[in-house]
Amino acid sequence: MSEPTTTIAVLAEREPRERRAAMVPSDVHLLKSKARFIVERGAGATAGFSDQAYVDAGAEIVDLTAVFAKADVVLAVRPAHDSAALHPGTVLISLAGRNSDMASEFEARGIVHLALERMPRITRAQSMDVLSSQASVAGYAAVMQAACMLDVILPMMTAAAGTIKPAKMIALGAGVAGLQAIATARRLGAVVYGFDVRGAAREQVESLSAKFVFPEIKLSSAEGAGGYASDQSENEQAALRDALSPILSGMQIVVTSAQIPGRPAPLLIDDATIASMGSGTVIIDLAAESGGNTSRTVADEIVVVGGVQIAGPTNLPSLVATDASRLFSGNVRALLDHLIDSEAGLRLRPDDEVTNALLGVRAAALASAAA
Ligand code: NAI
Repeated sequence: MSEPTTTIAVLAEREPRERRAAMVPSDVHLLKSKARFIVERGAGATAGFSDQAYVDAGAEIVDLTAVFAKADVVLAVRPAHDSAALHPGTVLISLAGRNSDMASEFEARGIVHLALERMPRITRAQSMDVLSSQASVAGYAAVMQAACMLDVILPMMTAAAGTIKPAKMIALGAGVAGLQAIATARRLGAVVYGFDVRGAAREQVESLSAKFVFPEIKLSSAEGAGGYASDQSENEQAALRDALSPILSGMQIVVTSAQIPGRPAPLLIDDATIASMGSGTVIIDLAAESGGNTSRTVADEIVVVGGVQIAGPTNLPSLVATDASRLFSGNVRALLDHLIDSEAGLRLRPDDEVTNALLGVRAAALASAAA
């Protein structure tokens, strides 16, 4: 077999709270017949993967200057701060995050950015869907964080001294993260509820032995494109908040993850509802990065209002960085497998649905002009 023609670099993460690695050693090993791997020194350290593990898997450990000089493809969880050093034509595979300036910066400099958030939600691309794998980890970690913040236990417990009632938990938004939060809270013994504006979510909530909540209002259909929810009117949102309020006041844990793609997160919990909740209640708001589902969410902080603790973590997968990295890396491996031909190396084909979606419209034009 001929030597691989594509060199792929794994970059060390530079954002302070980012502990994940974009590719783990076992995936380097699985791909080494298709590509040569260079790994920036220490890239896996915070996720529990040593430089030696990457060397054993077939990679070479290098410094940042060598990454920029040699790499055809650069892998990162978040776009690197010093990506100015990437040479034109480099393919960067990473999340785009919410920094919209970055897209035009990359485009101006001829860097081809495959933004992982844009993965189409089609069956063929499920193995490459970073948003789903990381949302699942975040849903799990949200319940673990809430359990640690609570002053009560989750399961029913009977002792000679008496019986403790199980805690009540609700997930508002029963997408990927919400369903994993529901499953995790069930395993810990809580009494669990779920709500979503998409009707299809009911069956999924109930299949996890949780109760689907029906607020006493009529909602218009919220099924949007690609399995996502569509936006609701201001009036409907206000009515929904009022209807959810009495349900929420009896909960000890609330995990919110309601999102509408490309829009600010819907406000589900306002000041009046927070005031009605019991002291000690924990809200974990997974929508903090897009504005939050509560009126008091502050990204990456815990705000306490009348004894209610409202956490807005934006990178829960980094709390469990080893497994989050394994899943992230598995998605990236599936994508690279899709893009790299063993003989011809990396090929971005303009007729490929996955490539086009990841490039976005303007960048797709750039790539085909460069081809
Ligand atoms: P997301 O992160 O955009 O939103 C999370 C949840 O919030 C969604 O379930 C949405 O319906 C809900 N939501 C929006 N507004 C709300 C409101 N006002 N009140 C309550 N809930 C609200 O979505 P996510 O979790 O990334 O995916 C949503 C669905 O997409 C999944 O449940 C699944 O059906 C589908 N999907 C399909 C995939 C595939 O076929 N490859 C992969 C992943 C997800």
